[in-house]
Amino acid sequence: MSAIRTVGVLGAGTMGQGIAQVTATAGCATRLLDAAPGKAEQAVGGIRAQLDKLVGKGKLTQEQRDRAVAALTPVTDVSSACRDVDLVIESAPENMDLKAKLLGEALAAAPPSALLGSNTSSLSLTELGTRLGAADRVVGLHFFNPPPVMELLEIVRGIGTSEDTVERALAFAAQIGKTPIVVRDFPGFATSRLGVVLGAEAIRMLEAGVASAVDIDRAMELGYRHPMGPLKLTDLVGLDVRLAILDHLHKEVGEQFRAPPLLRQMVRAGKLGKKTGEGFYVWKDGVAQAPKAR
Ligand code: CAA
Repeated sequence: MSAIRTVGVLGAGTMGQGIAQVTATAGCATRLLDAAPGKAEQAVGGIRAQLDKLVGKGKLTQEQRDRAVAALTPVTDVSSACRDVDLVIESAPENMDLKAKLLGEALAAAPPSALLGSNTSSLSLTELGTRLGAADRVVGLHFFNPPPVMELLEIVRGIGTSEDTVERALAFAAQIGKTPIVVRDFPGFATSRLGVVLGAEAIRMLEAGVASAVDIDRAMELGYRHPMGPLKLTDLVGLDVRLAILDHLHKEVGEQFRAPPLLRQMVRAGKLGKKTGEGFYVWKDGVAQAPKAR
């Protein structure tokens, strides 16, 4: 089985940027696409800054950093992102039509041997594969935020995903230093389904005035040894991302996933968490400050 040498990452948001950092550091030529002018360049600048920090901490040599930087190319059209790639990783917002459209363009531009991966957190890989008419090559490659740090790669097998595709996805996980799990295609997979329940319940507790945001988080950090409380984690992931997952799971799985009204209101107000500077906390220079009184 040949190694993945060239990757097209479609979407330069929080996750796309982190995924591109992972693949470039692992030695893959990485094209990072965003349709918004300047966004892919900005994300490559962000990766450069992260790599510099790692060099400063002695976690990466200057040579490894330079190699990773040289492997990164920001692009603005799908055909440049996907020409000659071995793997496409779609990392667009959590919307089936958008993902199907983007991967459809990738399918037309990429070689017939390329794997078509999606970083979806909850949507059906089976539906995506069927809509593309290339179900055997479509696979979920679900990364976790921050991708350079989190060890897991959740590989999701749609009904039509071929055994060869799953094997290649497993080999890719090993190549980029992640630990994979293989999960059957079901809304929310093995991770998001559990993760959003905790986050949504914490928001309902905040709505009910059970405790402050800081104390709800502290409860899980100190009482359950979670590295980060559920509200801070919702800020890190993005309130819009969590809301999209909840709405999908509510429709597909059941009532337990109904989104808390406070979450929907905050998304409407543009308070999306770390990426907009405010969610349940105020964020300055990437660090959560005391939350606004609520
Ligand atoms: N890129 C690269 N490295 C990063 C980073 C980033 N964005 N953010 C943090 N790090 C590194 C730091 O440099 C630091 O490295 P060293 O130990 O080598 O110094 C290390 O991670 C720890 O960071 P900090 O000391 O700043 O802070 P911390 O100890 O509190 O760890 C954390 C930060 C890794 C984010 C930790 O709090 C954590 O694991 N939180 C939970 C994250 C989580 O659950 N993610 C999954 C979310 S769900 C998801 O993503 C899926 C989805 O579909 C929505």
